[in-house]
Amino acid sequence: MELKNIVPWGRSFAEYREIFSLSDDDLNKTILGCGDGPAAFNAELTARGGKIISVDPTYQFDADALRGRIATVYDEVIPQLRANMDKYIWTSFSSVKELGQVRMTAMARFLADYAAGKEAGRYVQASLPDLPFADQQFDLALCSHYLFLYSKHVDLSQHLLAMNELCRVAREVRVYPLIALDGTLSPHLKTVMAALTDHGLTTSLVKVSYQFQKGATEMLVVQAA
Ligand SMILES: C[S@@+](CC[C@H](N)C(=O)[O-])C[C@H]1O[C@@H](n2cnc3c(N)ncnc32)[C@H](O)[C@@H]1O
Repeated sequence: MELKNIVPWGRSFAEYREIFSLSDDDLNKTILGCGDGPAAFNAELTARGGKIISVDPTYQFDADALRGRIATVYDEVIPQLRANMDKYIWTSFSSVKELGQVRMTAMARFLADYAAGKEAGRYVQASLPDLPFADQQFDLALCSHYLFLYSKHVDLSQHLLAMNELCRVAREVRVYPLIALDGTLSPHLKTVMAALTDHGLTTSLVKVSYQFQKGATEMLVVQAA
């Protein structure tokens, strides 16, 4: 993985809460954040006394490298968002500028926590479909804006392996969004749900209050039977 090819873009704690309908009870669970990148969820939850480990391939880089890349990517992403404003719902964020500020604040929160978190083993360099954790080590695994969203880049077999791995390490898995980058439902969703059901797991599509990308109204919840 080369730094110039990564697009670090992380969401806030408040966004994660809405994205995954996280209750106070959920926040007391042992949580895995898979593909968390520079999101602020780990930093904020840890500060609130929560138990969380985040994994992401970009954790091979140090804070200075990620900080530099975030600054470059910000200047590329903001004009792209302006050009595609009609693909998003502008209620939580009133403008592209406000969205940019929320995301940069979240990523600054992550960067401030990153070195200490790495030292404490809260930011672990790893990639689906192989996670360095024991069976059922976590109560809850969350995967925001990676699986299903990148359906064109991550094929069906990789989705199947990734979801099996998440279900191996956690008793419950929540994934959002379920639509791909083009705004249509992921072509992998139905097959993945059927495969998980065949493995004896319970799958459901659950409405969430978070809305930004048009059509991204539900999360996938998978639970051990
Ligand atoms: C769009 S970002 C989402 C970041 C964060 N989850 C959020 O919602 O703000 C997608 C993340 O998936 C990570 N990723 C890419 N390939 C991965 C893999 N094989 N396993 C786990 N994470 C991966 C990327 O490095 C990136 O941080």
